[in-house]
Amino acid sequence: MNILNKLEEGNIYEVLIATENGDGTLNIKPFGVKFEEQHFVLHLFPNKTLFNIKQKKSFTVYFTNDVLAYTNALFGLLDDFDKDFAVECEVENISSDQVADSYGKNIAAIITAKVIKIIEHDKTLPIINRATNHIIDLLVEFSRYSFMDVDKQTQFVEKIESTENIINKCGNKKHKKALNLIKKELKQE
Ligand SMILES: Cc1cc2nc3c(=O)[nH]c(=O)nc-3n(C[C@H](O)[C@H](O)[C@H](O)COP(=O)(O)O)c2cc1C
Repeated sequence: MNILNKLEEGNIYEVLIATENGDGTLNIKPFGVKFEEQHFVLHLFPNKTLFNIKQKKSFTVYFTNDVLAYTNALFGLLDDFDKDFAVECEVENISSDQVADSYGKNIAAIITAKVIKIIEHDKTLPIINRATNHIIDLLVEFSRYSFMDVDKQTQFVEKIESTENIINKCGNKKHKKALNLIKKELKQE
């Protein structure tokens, strides 16, 4: 069975994207990817991943439920992680888009890529974990922390506190570790 059949057209999935740096090492960071007409579409703000994709015209998408992998990846601490499956992609098109959101106006690059190769690792159950969703939500906001005004930063700190209650109720050790990493990184901001 083609594992891509598990993905729904038009849905955005949280994934890790690996790109190759100039020195041959990998940069692996969390992103949202849209599955559209059997292609993967990324919306990227100016970052290292976009730079690498423009250079090499390729990237690998890792699907994983490993909450610590997303946390460690965002903070540049990623070592090994549980992979469900990986998809190697080749860029077909790069265009740009003006994005207006609560952080102001930005230019995002839209990357459309075709699938070259599918590598299946562990096929875990497709579960939706409430605590994982909360951590991912915090990570997305954290990645934009430096663009927040003081009010939004205060709200974000409050959100961490309320998420802590949820994690204590329905999370596991990995969720607690992820939350502690977020709090530690926040102190360094
Ligand atoms: C779950 C998750 C989804 C994200 N999705 C996107 C995205 O779709 N586009 C984007 O530009 N940044 C996204 N980010 C933020 C990037 O991961 C973050 O800016 C990262 O530091 C980029 O690293 P790089 O400069 O090494 O590429 C996301 C972050 C998280 C935690």
